[in-house]
Amino acid sequence: MSTSNERFYIKDASKFDGQTVTAKGWVYNSRSSGKIKFLVLRDGSGLMQCVLFKGDCGDETFATFDQLTQEASVEVTGVLRKEPRSPGGYEMGVRSLKIVSVAQSYPISPKEHGVEFLMENRHLWIRSQRQWAALRVRSEIIRAIEEFFYQRDFIRFDAPILTPSSCEGTSTLFETPYFEEKAYLSQSGQLYGETGAMAFGKVFVFGPTFRAEKSKTRKHLTEFWMVEPEVAFADLNDNMTLGEQFVEHVVQTVLDRRSAELKILERDFSKLESIRGPFPRISYDEAIKILQKRGVEIPWGEDFGAPHETALGEEFGKPVFVHHMPAQIKAFYFKQSDSVGGPGVTGTGKYALGCDLIAPDGYGEVIGGGQREESVEVLQRRIAEHGLSEEDYKWYLDLRRFGSVPHSGFGLGVERTVAWITGVEHVRETIPYPRMLNTLRP
Ligand code: 4AD
Ligand code: MG
Repeated sequence: MSTSNERFYIKDASKFDGQTVTAKGWVYNSRSSGKIKFLVLRDGSGLMQCVLFKGDCGDETFATFDQLTQEASVEVTGVLRKEPRSPGGYEMGVRSLKIVSVAQSYPISPKEHGVEFLMENRHLWIRSQRQWAALRVRSEIIRAIEEFFYQRDFIRFDAPILTPSSCEGTSTLFETPYFEEKAYLSQSGQLYGETGAMAFGKVFVFGPTFRAEKSKTRKHLTEFWMVEPEVAFADLNDNMTLGEQFVEHVVQTVLDRRSAELKILERDFSKLESIRGPFPRISYDEAIKILQKRGVEIPWGEDFGAPHETALGEEFGKPVFVHHMPAQIKAFYFKQSDSVGGPGVTGTGKYALGCDLIAPDGYGEVIGGGQREESVEVLQRRIAEHGLSEEDYKWYLDLRRFGSVPHSGFGLGVERTVAWITGVEHVRETIPYPRMLNTLRP
């Protein structure tokens, strides 16, 4: 087994206890003290301590060690043994060491660097432990998202990124020339997702979305990934139930499969373990009262900001759905109602049948969605009221002309979800290459 052709990865060390293996990777750090030298090897799957005794590995290998630089690439061969003090629980007693390529002076040292410097070196920063762990959790979150929908027989339905019109209002559109006309980068795949729901019953759109957000906050990117389920014959309550089961599945799956990474990130496990449905569901009006009681008042009709979302998180200690928002602050496609709790009315009401899921600990809105307007006449009126061109939405209105049904959906922002689950402070650390105001490189 030890000399088989199977490539060895550090994460599998426990399967090779007592065997000789060759690990290929990069020098995370190294130190020496007389007759013994240590090297922490990074191979992408994990870290492992490698120990060199002069007596075991010979003079030549011992001398090679002295040429190592941080991030030099190497192949190290030796015997694995249990060692609780080694990062992955196993260490290697080195027999031979081969340098593949020596690294020049590496800009990211273990000392503290400013965020600006680290962002400029994002292409290298992702090799650091915390960044590495957060991006591995991101990958697992995306897997859990797909699993959830496939297990429930949703069809993956890819929406275009180059689009002729807006979904979430015209103020955050990125415009690009498209031959003889103008196109916009998609803000949301929802409208296309609705066409998919009428063809397949239930679909999920999953891809990058774009918003020209001029605000600099820890929750906003200009390019972010969104997963958007859309279900035919589903109302607002069905939508919240789906969102609740979905979020519970994602959180619990990550906890189950990525506990090592969450430990590196020093995430409080108990806070994630308690993320289980049902989640509280409160109306916007109730939320306003809670905010008043907590001393973060907000006039009726305004959208919540960070202090309000943080206060709601503190009130419940778990994710909370806020539904029936003021119609005046919501997009054109929402079904409306003139009262909270009553059935949705097809007409113009005070409330939009929306539901936002607010994550605890100040991570803010992770889900935004709701029930869609199903009447062609009402939608035509709304499109006009919102200053949009009916011509651009002809195909969308067709869904209401040819067998319109009640339907609902939502969008979950991947980066905000990763920030919340990993506990990292800012969404810029939840995607390999964040795009923000003033950040286009690397
Ligand atoms: O609430 P939003 O704007 O909803 C929509 O776009 C709907 N069309 C979705 C739907 O019903 N299919 O955005 C949904 C989610 C937010 O809750 C948030 O998690 C994330 O997308 N999001 C952002 N994430 C990072 N940076 C931004 N600038 C974001 N804007 C929204
Ligand atoms: Mg929203």
